[in-house]
Amino acid sequence: MSTIAVYPGSFDPVTLGHLDIARRAASLFSELHFVVVHNPAKSPRFSSEQRVELIRASLAELDLPKHTKIVVDTLDGGLLVDYCRMVGAKALVKGVRTNVDLDYELPMAQVNRDLAGVETIFIPADPVHGHISSSLVKQVSDLSGKVDKYVSEPVARALASERANRKMSE
Ligand code: PNS
Repeated sequence: MSTIAVYPGSFDPVTLGHLDIARRAASLFSELHFVVVHNPAKSPRFSSEQRVELIRASLAELDLPKHTKIVVDTLDGGLLVDYCRMVGAKALVKGVRTNVDLDYELPMAQVNRDLAGVETIFIPADPVHGHISSSLVKQVSDLSGKVDKYVSEPVARALASERANRKMSE
């Protein structure tokens, strides 16, 4: 039986924590859509296209289950549940690091279930990644700190080059 799930987020940029959740989710489903969602409340560091490329480059370095098809996609406006309907997904996947994440995620999970009966599967973050967030990674990188413990090599390179470009244009 084909089981399709959607893993949505801003992924600005994708971290090792996100990749660990995707790897674990991939072992549960036959198809996993990693979806970069445009969030109008946030001004992203990377474009949706760059974020997709960074996810693809990061996934290429992982040992993913062979039986799972992984799709990397974008959603620039529109409801997530409509995307789920379009691809035939009955489940959303979310990583949870702390009760703060759960407080933020629970109402969204309930709304998505109300809107379209799409269930949300919460995967607890590995404690090794529990403190990693995209915003902290950006902050550390902006202050010239090392981020290689938190992100893949392609993402570390993209952060460094984005910072260098920004410095040059100041
Ligand atoms: O990584 P983020 O920014 O915390 O992810 C939040 C995201 C993108 C998952 C959330 O904003 C979202 O689901 N946006 C899609 C719009 C939508 O369907 N909203 C209504 C139900 S929550």
